[in-house]
Amino acid sequence: MLDFDFYNPTHIVFGQDRLAELDVLVPEDAKVMITYGGESAKKYGTIGKVRDALEGRTLIEFGGIEPNPRFETLAKAANIAKAENVDYLLAVGGGSVMDGTKFIALAAKDESGEYQNMLFHGFAPVPATDALPLGCVATLPATGSEMNMGGVITYNGQKYPFMSPLAFPKFSVLDPDLTKTLPKEQIANGVADAFVHVIEQYLTYPVNAKVQDRLAEGVLKTLIEDGPVTLADNDDMDARKNFIWSATMALNGTIGAGMPQDWSTHMIGHEMTAQYGIAHGRTLAIILANVMRERKAQKHAKLLQFAERVWDITDGTDDEKIDQAIDKTEAFFNSLGIVTNLTHYGIDDAGIDKIVGNMEKMGLTALSETGDLTLDIVRKILVATK
Ligand code: NZQ
Ligand code: ZN
Repeated sequence: MLDFDFYNPTHIVFGQDRLAELDVLVPEDAKVMITYGGESAKKYGTIGKVRDALEGRTLIEFGGIEPNPRFETLAKAANIAKAENVDYLLAVGGGSVMDGTKFIALAAKDESGEYQNMLFHGFAPVPATDALPLGCVATLPATGSEMNMGGVITYNGQKYPFMSPLAFPKFSVLDPDLTKTLPKEQIANGVADAFVHVIEQYLTYPVNAKVQDRLAEGVLKTLIEDGPVTLADNDDMDARKNFIWSATMALNGTIGAGMPQDWSTHMIGHEMTAQYGIAHGRTLAIILANVMRERKAQKHAKLLQFAERVWDITDGTDDEKIDQAIDKTEAFFNSLGIVTNLTHYGIDDAGIDKIVGNMEKMGLTALSETGDLTLDIVRKILVATK
């Protein structure tokens, strides 16, 4: 196991009918900016319930945070938060709203006004010293944003991750009922995103981290069991709760502590979203199997462990077990209704050139847990996915 620091201060409030507890979770004298996305949070009544729970406080609303939230929108929100002396942010939505609100929280305390500078630090923390406190009402299980310190912002047509311990939500309410209005493809994307979050932190090389490995395998098995049930049956509350907690556990730091981490699939996927607008989780599902196939030699030991412990494959040689596990992973995504070839999404050879070219511009030229995944290999992965 590698050395690690583990820090996660987010209070999780999990369960049905708990929105009224916002009254206790948000300070009594706070001036609150409620942030949300396009229309779902209003249309399905969540904003109304949030407002009722926060009665007595001064509330302002900022809506219109897009999927893959845009820098300009968030900068505008931060300027309003400053001008209105907002002292608490409450995100009501999916990963985009939660990520966007983390960015607003940092920007609202950034006196320079050059908020874009927070986006150029990669996975290193933003050099910020203060942020507005924020809470979340999470409506889409997928990103883990409700319990982590990261976000991804679209700036100049590119996706930039940012991190800061100041961006951890103070609390996140995870009410499974709020996710019942999700369209099926968003559930499928959420299962895929959570699955690949685990894979990025698990499927590297062995470091004998038994707890992290077994937790990761437990989360993957739960997603395989309960993702499809949640997709098929809107009323299976047990499956839905297990799916939601899997998505949070997949990226709250627990399974990744002391582990080598990959993130290649995410870096390629972000470019597919930036250039083609394909939803985040879906991009990952499209390419993951071919990342695994291309990286069989480097990931051999963990792929075998994945085959035996996650897919329970016992027959065949080691290589046969690995091949079966990769095929099963791809078939799993297909069973969720996700088509896993690029042509289906209108990405042809010229599109592959564009994706690889943009990754080069972004400096994403040495990916993977060992930094040996070059753009030639990215191209091979994409060509194999045609
Ligand atoms: O905008 P509204 O109208 O609210 O509709 C949203 C949006 O169109 C809708 N939605 C959300 N909750 C709903 C609902 N519709 C019906 N009922 C509900 N309960 O779903 C659509 C997609 O929402 P979005 O927030 O964009 O999806 P997701 O949660 O998948 O977030 C994706 C973003 O998170 C980033 C991605 O890059 C992307 O920008 N990520 C953030 C991470 C993190 N913070 O750690 C890690 C991830 O790897 C990921 O990169
Ligand atoms: Zn993701």
